[in-house]
Amino acid sequence: MLRLIRNILSDKSDDFTYHRFNRINNIGLKPGSGLYIHIPFCKNSCPYCPYIKTFYNKDLAREYKNALLKEISLYYDYFGKKNFTSLYFGGGTPTLMINEMSEILEHLHKYFNIEGDIALETSPDEINKEVLTKLKHLGFNLISIGIQSFNNSCLKKIGRNYDMNTAVKALGEVNSVGFDSVNIDLIFAIENQTIEDIRNDLSVAISHNINQITCYPLFTFPFSEIGKIKQLKKIKLPNHLQRRKMYYFINKFLYENGYSRTNVWSFIKNHKNNYSSVTRDYYLGLGASSGSYNGEIFYFNTFYVSEYIKSVNSRLPVSIAMNVSKKLEKNFWLYWQLYITIINKKSYKEMFRSDIKKDFGFILKLIKIMGFIEYEDENIIKLNTKGSHWIHLIQNYYALEYVNKIWSVSKNNPWPDRIKL
Ligand SMILES: C[S@@+](CC[C@H](N)C(=O)[O-])C[C@H]1O[C@@H](n2cnc3c(N)ncnc32)[C@H](O)[C@@H]1O
Ligand code: SF4
Repeated sequence: MLRLIRNILSDKSDDFTYHRFNRINNIGLKPGSGLYIHIPFCKNSCPYCPYIKTFYNKDLAREYKNALLKEISLYYDYFGKKNFTSLYFGGGTPTLMINEMSEILEHLHKYFNIEGDIALETSPDEINKEVLTKLKHLGFNLISIGIQSFNNSCLKKIGRNYDMNTAVKALGEVNSVGFDSVNIDLIFAIENQTIEDIRNDLSVAISHNINQITCYPLFTFPFSEIGKIKQLKKIKLPNHLQRRKMYYFINKFLYENGYSRTNVWSFIKNHKNNYSSVTRDYYLGLGASSGSYNGEIFYFNTFYVSEYIKSVNSRLPVSIAMNVSKKLEKNFWLYWQLYITIINKKSYKEMFRSDIKKDFGFILKLIKIMGFIEYEDENIIKLNTKGSHWIHLIQNYYALEYVNKIWSVSKNNPWPDRIKL
């Protein structure tokens, strides 16, 4: 059914297939693009985590840094000194490369113009006053900490390597150093987790005045360890109705405490800068497994750290690419608007020189009939909690389906010939 809708919404030329990448003539960059850098090092291996990471090793981190510098220079040779509207370091655990960070940033500022936020994500056990102060001096203004839970039993269930005291201490330290905005990630729908556990997690964050809280349900990617365990039916995660109850509870509780939604998972207070590494219209990704999108093609770098380091000596480390028609570009735009739960009709007109009602009349009507709208005027449509919950279900299906296909092939082959979605 969803495949049918996908085919109706896209163009005949969209084959939803990534092909081995062997030419660079359409790697252009759109104005307003964001820059993402993947740091694939961790000290823990969390069983649920789908991201590309390897155990931290000092020498490998140095080699990886040198490869990143080469990749930056390759792009500079290709399209000159380009502007980026933000810079996000994701992972893995980017603070594990704190000693290499100054050289990476220097290189980036030399070859690119970076305006806007400089952000990074990390885990609570990797931060202390010294690391945070260094980050601040380096110009980082947004930080995201993967707390996941303040409950020892939940932390243990998802295989985290610290306890709640470390998580609480991290909040105190990040507050004392002071960043423009701090996001924390929490995970819900963990085995045996209750609404009371979730209330407690949110309350600890609120009492520390954390201005952005992101609550992800525990995704079980079939290729992650927890996905495999679930297939073996060894763990029992909350069912759909329980997850729905949790999602509605999180929305209500955070609204009552002065937060408002910035996407299906995130809530912000005090209108500070929003930490979001995924909601750029266009972006360039550097580092192993990074994705890039310029409105015409989607492409990924090789997922293998060793191949990434080797390949940048002679070429861009891009492994697979998929062409995107104008129609599909509009669909992607709508997908991300639904993700941030605000459809900006005015910006659609500016971007595509077309009326959104003409292009997406059926979907807009459906959203209305389904009772998903909280507010609408001539410029925007804002979704309510019901709408946001449904979008998360659809997003969940697509994200798991697509991520699973691309990741499972790319994790087994550094240079795949073809991935059909
Ligand atoms: C990839 S981690 C990077 C930050 C850091 N390494 C950490 O673990 O805290 C970013 C976030 O992804 C989220 N995440 C990763 N795998 C997930 C999954 N299977 N389900 C839900 N959230 C997940 C976690 O909330 C985590 O904080
Ligand atoms: S969740 Fe974070 S610390 Fe755990 S394996 Fe993934 S990237 Fe590493």
